[in-house]
Amino acid sequence: MRVLVVGSGGREHALCWALAASPIVDGVLCAPGNDGIARDAECVPVAADDHEGILALCRERGVDLVVVGPEQPLVAGLVDRLQEAGIRAFGPTAAAARLEGSKAFTKEFCRRFGIPTASARIFRAEEQDAALAWLREHGAPVVVKADGLAAGKGVVVAQTLAEAEEAVREAFAGRFGEAGRTLVIEEYLEGEEASLFAVCDGETVQEIGTAQDHKRAFDGDRGPNTGGMGAYSPTPALDGATAQAAMERIVLPAVRGMKELGTPYRGILYAGLMLTAEGPKLLEFNVRFGDPEAQVILPRLMSDFGEIALAAAEGGLRHLKVRFSDEHALCVVLASRGYPGSCVKGTEIRGLGRLAGMEGVLVFHAGTKHEDGRWLAVGGRVLNVVGLGRDLVEAYDRAYAAVKLIDWPEGFWRSDIGHRAIRRLAAADRSTSEGRGA
Ligand code: AMP
Ligand code: GLY
Repeated sequence: MRVLVVGSGGREHALCWALAASPIVDGVLCAPGNDGIARDAECVPVAADDHEGILALCRERGVDLVVVGPEQPLVAGLVDRLQEAGIRAFGPTAAAARLEGSKAFTKEFCRRFGIPTASARIFRAEEQDAALAWLREHGAPVVVKADGLAAGKGVVVAQTLAEAEEAVREAFAGRFGEAGRTLVIEEYLEGEEASLFAVCDGETVQEIGTAQDHKRAFDGDRGPNTGGMGAYSPTPALDGATAQAAMERIVLPAVRGMKELGTPYRGILYAGLMLTAEGPKLLEFNVRFGDPEAQVILPRLMSDFGEIALAAAEGGLRHLKVRFSDEHALCVVLASRGYPGSCVKGTEIRGLGRLAGMEGVLVFHAGTKHEDGRWLAVGGRVLNVVGLGRDLVEAYDRAYAAVKLIDWPEGFWRSDIGHRAIRRLAAADRSTSEGRGA
């Protein structure tokens, strides 16, 4: 089978790497990919939003299955276009991708199918006065969310009424364009966040792993929000029973609901959860793997990802059992200084060769270019260094031992990925040994 992966980040590198290892895959293409991905796939310069170009590439090269990495082409209907042309795709249609593409749709959907989530009100731009009046009545903390895709910037967790009012005014004044013409204003939930990943074929759904990511740019969860500065899998916050509860109360009803609406869900369903005192509640659905969550989920997969993706696209997932290992994975994202704002491009990264062959270490490229024998940084998030280990501490040690070998003065990364889970494990250890001592 010949597979095409659409996208160019670390997530897409991990997808190409997993597919290249599949016994049923004999060729991996990536559009557009990057120079690091070129180790595992043939990169073709077609942009992820160039649907006609992707279609032409599929026809020219006899692609049997397209795996779409990012959300934008899914929400914009790439899978619909491919299916019309008779090409199999792993990912939801535009109608099913509304689970990520419209927060207002998802709120209504949760209400209709009894999925636990924050209670919310939906306001359109012409209802600004009503929205502000509702806010004054409700008070803070409160969460203001742009309805559409806003590159991770459309959510304001307002601690004060003034912040919430400003968020409403800015969104309605056009800060997020069309995406902010409708707002979801919702109850602030307290708890720990964790993510649950499932793979679906429209009918059957199976868990494919849990993870936690670190959105803030700097250590101690400080600084601006980013696409993600690191992640680890599994997360101890989502133990077996909690993950099962989230599958039963959130993921399964969603898959059943989408089928009932006549828009069956196929692909990866990523449930962003808040683990509240009343149990897991849905913060958001994403219709794809997370980035960098894919980089820690795919290496733990024991089942063949090629088979899983094909089965999900064709509707045969009930014949497979998705299995993942007990191993832990932890990913550190290396970014150009200035990220998530503007950053200098073209700086040299030295020492990458030293990481080749290190035990329990994988490197996925996001924003690199290989030129005259040198690796250059050409993006915000540039590299993903993944450590694998028997436990989270070993995964952490391996990832950071590898990061230390990289010589890139113009880059930065967090030194505390996994800190919350590691502290939690250490505390649990202490209480068991105190228990034994007593
Ligand atoms: P979302 O894109 O909807 O997941 O929101 C982005 C981030 O905002 C989440 O990862 C949470 O940290 C935070 N957030 C979203 N909704 C809520 C909520 N109802 N209560 C508290 N924090 C939230
Ligand atoms: N790392 C968060 C996301 O991919 O949405």
